[in-house]
Amino acid sequence: MKHFLTTQDWSRDELQSMLDAARQLKKKRFGNVLSGKTVALLFLNPSMRTRASFQVGVHELGGMAVVLEPGAGSWPIEFEFGKRMDGEAEEHICEVARVLSRYCDLIAIRAFPKFQDWSLDRTDYVIKAVAEYATVPVINMETITHPCQEMAHALTLQERLGDLAGKKYLLTWTWHPKPLNTAVANSALLIATRMGMDVTLLIPEDAYLLDPMFMEAGERNAAESGGSLTVTNDIEAAYADALVVYCKSWGALPFYGNPEQEWPLREKYQHFIVDGPKMALTRDALFSHCLPLRRNIKATDEVMDADYCVAIDEAENRLHVQKAVMSRLAEQ
Ligand code: CP
Repeated sequence: MKHFLTTQDWSRDELQSMLDAARQLKKKRFGNVLSGKTVALLFLNPSMRTRASFQVGVHELGGMAVVLEPGAGSWPIEFEFGKRMDGEAEEHICEVARVLSRYCDLIAIRAFPKFQDWSLDRTDYVIKAVAEYATVPVINMETITHPCQEMAHALTLQERLGDLAGKKYLLTWTWHPKPLNTAVANSALLIATRMGMDVTLLIPEDAYLLDPMFMEAGERNAAESGGSLTVTNDIEAAYADALVVYCKSWGALPFYGNPEQEWPLREKYQHFIVDGPKMALTRDALFSHCLPLRRNIKATDEVMDADYCVAIDEAENRLHVQKAVMSRLAEQ
């Protein structure tokens, strides 16, 4: 039984097959692949797009979604093993995953890292525990990666640019008042290198490098796909000739769990905002972001309202790619 925890578990052909299926599902939205089936959606963190698109997607495929918010309407869950459960959690994931597997045909979970200890969070232990104890396929709705966003991003770029191989892709760090999850940045790096793009990662300084396991996976992907991965802190060189600009803010991993210590570093880099003059350096690049986005903090109104901004298309494509992923997992 295969889960959808990270795109790295799936071959390039398998991913492309799901993207092709998503394109078909976009043309013909309603089907019965999930007829008589139920999908559990566990949200440990807030969501707008993921929650709405999964619920709508399950409905459009003839199934039913059960939304659970552990700690707010359902019992708080413990994910670590061997712990004396004398805190907030009322039950352990090994019971939750097995019980939900008796009711449901798929389990999807959103569990952001806890921003205390990166050495623990980087293991992705929450979703791995769900996958270990579930007897049905598990879908990642964002943990330390966001594979559904990756698929929507790839579909959006393929719709506009066709084959992505050899096209210059800029992933730029942007400022935000607080350190955010690296998941979307990790994911953007993984999917763009997987698709053979010439990827530039623009960061203010080395403290904003992504975890070595993602940097190394990006290097391996690029070597296999014929793409490339370059890291720079030169803003003008990074934007020059780009065909795609994707922005995301994330916290510096050396300061993980210590936002007040990161602040003196972070506050210097507000000029990393994506704006019209920077986009003018590109080769008429598309711009996108996973959303939600704080306007005039991460990108200006001018950029968000421009014809080259495809963030709304990417958000729509979440629906179509997730239906393709659920269809693929349900057929096992
Ligand atoms: N992009 C994304 O996952 O949006 P939500 O956090 O609103 O689900």
